[in-house]
Amino acid sequence: MAVATVKFRLTISLIAINFNKIINININININIINNNMKAKIISLSNQKGGVGKTTLSMQIAGALSRSNKVLIADIDPQGSAVTWSSSASDESPFPAHVIGLNAAKGKVHNEIRKYVDDYDFIIIDCPPSINSTETQSALLISDLALIPILPSPPDIWASVGIVQIIENAKTVNENLQARLVLNQKQANRTLATESLAILENFQIPLAKTTLTQREIYRQCAAFGGTVFDFGKREAAIQEIESLCQEIEDLLR
Ligand SMILES: Nc1ncnc2c1ncn2[C@@H]1O[C@H](COP(=O)(O)OP(=O)(O)OP(=O)(O)O)[C@@H](O)[C@H]1O
Ligand SMILES: [Mg+2]
Repeated sequence: MAVATVKFRLTISLIAINFNKIINININININIINNNMKAKIISLSNQKGGVGKTTLSMQIAGALSRSNKVLIADIDPQGSAVTWSSSASDESPFPAHVIGLNAAKGKVHNEIRKYVDDYDFIIIDCPPSINSTETQSALLISDLALIPILPSPPDIWASVGIVQIIENAKTVNENLQARLVLNQKQANRTLATESLAILENFQIPLAKTTLTQREIYRQCAAFGGTVFDFGKREAAIQEIESLCQEIEDLLR
């Protein structure tokens, strides 16, 4: 969180006439305005293809970032999966980030999100799976980073290609929007097929260095309303989520 201190020095010169003497009084006032500049970094999880891991990544990234930041998740998907996920948490161990449903804002998501930017370090937007979603387009207008989860098989990769145009359109208005593809549900100990790598080159969106493996723990987390950080010995999953968050923080620095 950046804290900026702005100092104003105000010098007031008073000339007073007292018993025929001219007295100069200088008053120096230092006004410290502490500008608690908590302007949130905004990350959208988007892909018009369904079931690629938008909600899973939103929740896990939020879990990691919440350990040292104030995090808000905006669920703009009518399915409300992020809201359902967080509400599955127990009262003793609530979901670590604040989750709100913003689907009703439709194409005005960017205006709604603006209301929260001074209160959080990160805002994560879980987008719906629809090619013509006004919610996603609106979310990308205000995002610093678009993360696009994709599944590692050629048909799944092709089915995600529509997001490229959506990102390009958003960039015409939001010039600073960065984007990364994130391979999700990769089979452990399997390298990505050369065929898949060749298709990925068509995206013209860089691939994040971190890939997420297919792990049962990610499914269990949704059922328990938690994240991998709530489940004891899950080093491998924790490591990949932390590695992804490190990349995110480096990109947004
Ligand atoms: N790395 C993973 N390992 C195992 N299961 C995963 C992984 N990532 C996601 N899943 C599972 O895949 C399914 C789809 O994931 P998720 O709901 O996050 O996708 P989505 O893109 O948000 O879907 P939708 O488009 O419907 O919103 C879920 O059952 C989830 O638990
Ligand atoms: Mg989802």
